[in-house]
Amino acid sequence: MMGAVHAVPLHAETGDDAWLRYAPLDAVARKKYESLPASVLTLGDSPVLGAAQGELIRGVRGMMGRTLREGKSLPQENAFVLGTLAELHKADPALRAPGDLREDSFWLTTVRVHGFACLIITSPTDRGVLYGVFALLAKMARNETVASLNEVQQPFAPIRWVNQWDNLNGSIERGYGGRSIFFDAGSVRSDLTRAGDYARLLASVGINGCAINNVNADSRILKDDFLPQLARIADVFRPWGVRLAIAIDVSSPKVIGGLDTFDPLDPGVSDWWRKKVDEIYQQIPDFAGFIVKADSEGRLGPSTYGRTPADAANVIARALKPHGGLVFYRAFVYNHHLDWRNPKNDRARAAYDIFHPLDGKFDDNVVIQIKYGPIDFQVREPVSPLFGGLRSTNEAIELQITQEYLGQQRHLCFLPPMWKETLDFDLHAAGRSTPVKDLVAGKSFHRPTGGFVGVANVGLDADWLGHPLALANLYGFGRLAWNPNLSSGTIANEWTRMTFGNNPTVVRTISAMQLASWRIYENYTGPLGAGTLTNILGSHYGPGVESSERNGWGQWHRADHQGIGMDRTVATGTGYVGQYPAPVAGKYESLKSTPDELLLFFHHVPYTYVLHSGKTVIQYIYDSHYEGAQQAQGLVGQWESLKNDLDDEVYAAVLARLQYQAGHAIVWRDAVCNWFLRMSGIPDAKGRVGHYPNRIEAEGMQLQGYAPFDVIPQETGSGGKGIECAPPLQHCDASFRFDRAAGWYELDVEYFDQINGESKFRLFVGNQQVDEWVADDHLPAIKPGGDSSTRRRITGLALRPGDEIRIEGFPDGKELAPLDYVEVFARSQ
Ligand code: GCU
Repeated sequence: MMGAVHAVPLHAETGDDAWLRYAPLDAVARKKYESLPASVLTLGDSPVLGAAQGELIRGVRGMMGRTLREGKSLPQENAFVLGTLAELHKADPALRAPGDLREDSFWLTTVRVHGFACLIITSPTDRGVLYGVFALLAKMARNETVASLNEVQQPFAPIRWVNQWDNLNGSIERGYGGRSIFFDAGSVRSDLTRAGDYARLLASVGINGCAINNVNADSRILKDDFLPQLARIADVFRPWGVRLAIAIDVSSPKVIGGLDTFDPLDPGVSDWWRKKVDEIYQQIPDFAGFIVKADSEGRLGPSTYGRTPADAANVIARALKPHGGLVFYRAFVYNHHLDWRNPKNDRARAAYDIFHPLDGKFDDNVVIQIKYGPIDFQVREPVSPLFGGLRSTNEAIELQITQEYLGQQRHLCFLPPMWKETLDFDLHAAGRSTPVKDLVAGKSFHRPTGGFVGVANVGLDADWLGHPLALANLYGFGRLAWNPNLSSGTIANEWTRMTFGNNPTVVRTISAMQLASWRIYENYTGPLGAGTLTNILGSHYGPGVESSERNGWGQWHRADHQGIGMDRTVATGTGYVGQYPAPVAGKYESLKSTPDELLLFFHHVPYTYVLHSGKTVIQYIYDSHYEGAQQAQGLVGQWESLKNDLDDEVYAAVLARLQYQAGHAIVWRDAVCNWFLRMSGIPDAKGRVGHYPNRIEAEGMQLQGYAPFDVIPQETGSGGKGIECAPPLQHCDASFRFDRAAGWYELDVEYFDQINGESKFRLFVGNQQVDEWVADDHLPAIKPGGDSSTRRRITGLALRPGDEIRIEGFPDGKELAPLDYVEVFARSQ
């Protein structure tokens, strides 16, 4: 709307309200909601209904500056009325829901009750009423109309869960947003405020279950003295309709139970599980169930006794059954000691090979939890064929909200577009259309349950995930679990409005950044389905092209001097393609019909192979990496255009991350391109790779104290070398003479920022210090390389020919003030 005044928050925000800010609405929007009732009547009494009423009051107060009056009896005035259908029907028998409402669905409607205009929020369950309140408040936050409402929303699937991989010591496996909100030093935290806040966030997008501990489970979680602690977490979840679950170790009967076996077919073992589960339900009557990771990555499992995953799952499921609990048995079972020399070996086959033959052998309260792709949360994978391979077994899709392989919340990577591609993919199981979303929801084969699990790993950081814009992934996961037919654009738009307000420029810009970000990340990391090409043996963060080759982990892309890619065809490869139903297998079996973006996942081709796009594989690798790095720089500019429209703190926090990302995208670009140049021997047709005319290598500068060293792997340092200032020296100098025309320049200093020291740097032009900084970031690196390589950009320098440019480095701890290069760009000011 032209000329409207948009609310710009004047106060600093910490971010912990996430998309539930309920910021004051602008005058135009407020007018829209002026005639809403002044009181709220809640029929019935339960913690969830209490939370629903409290939330409505909180939201209306925040956005409208009005405090609704609470009422308990039938309205004497216009009112919001909250209650289950049953309660509502008692109060006014004339009120009938439109059709059959499933569990957790809700109905928002405006009707007259006893002559008063009421806005009714109702559902078959208390939880659905709470969801209805959140939906109404979200509409207001987005300035949508709520007049004459008559809207029913039904969840797509009953299982809408998150998993947290929190350890009992308070750390989080693959968590990038601070320490655990649940545990500290081996126990449940005394202050669970954030756990309650988290449940509120989850409820606002319809998530109804949360498993709180690492799938690499510590068996102590089932000890008798731990259960009352778990009950405290269940208590703070309960008002938000989020049920507590935990990950367990299947060897628990032996490890903490004192039995001499954990064989699932041993009667003593089944007894143990039954008693343990009964004990849990005594303390947590609404306990949701267990997650199981077994026979995977060193975890013990039923294979110890020659038993199957079905044996292991069922013994636990039978203990849970009388209480209504579920077992989520993860299909992420594979041999991580595969012989890479055997061209027929293929980790991607594992889940289907193991679980497909067991279809129908799992009890009805077992859910097989399947990662979206057959490997492990890579930037691009085909969908797991197991989704179509289970027809008489419940299943759930496991998506990863935490960006383990996707930039660890230091890079912007909005995931709904990737998730949508998986969910919409049609596997054609049983000769008819069966999109993954229908399969996992149990719709295709009429399963009693199924749905969506997101590995979230939020932490104590104020912004939950470690990057303010990454929260869109948590939001997006919940929205897609509720309705996978929403578009990514709608989700980005909704989240941005609720988080940053309704200024059209802000909404347009941030949504566009989010929507482009996954492709951008893919462009400068792993191309054509080869995997993320990150360091899979350590951090899973920076570039590590070769780390996945020649070891037992099976994430091979089999690059050599001639070509690259895994041949997974039936005709000549590992046969993985044969796990897909015929129409899909046919598409991937042939080079011609395999989409470019998955080419190297399915086929081994020479670098000179010409893609559908007309480019050779090698030129595509070069071009996509240059394009991706440039697009990452573009994100910085897009964000900068919003400087006057955003809260200062959020603006600065995101800007710093985007600038870092743009620098790291160049590290990625150069590492991947140089590796492939060395491997293939084929130069970049555009002459960029290996030629950096603006770059001055540190090892080529005048060094005082500094000494060159080899960066390993070599492509993660420019020219394969850096310089270090080793003890006992306390400071070193590196300098060079500027020899270009006088003008305005920008200097990029590439240095290595490790976690094991905080080196200082100073930059001089002649005798004038123009910048200084400390390498005090917490990157996942203890040595110089692709994980630690970081850019410092110094803009607006007036340089003259003959100027000496000098960097002073002060090492600290094990970080020896390492430098890689300086790049000098002419920039008009
Ligand atoms: C990945 C991840 C592990 C995790 C595993 C799993 O491999 O790196 O940290 O334990 O997945 O999902 O079980």
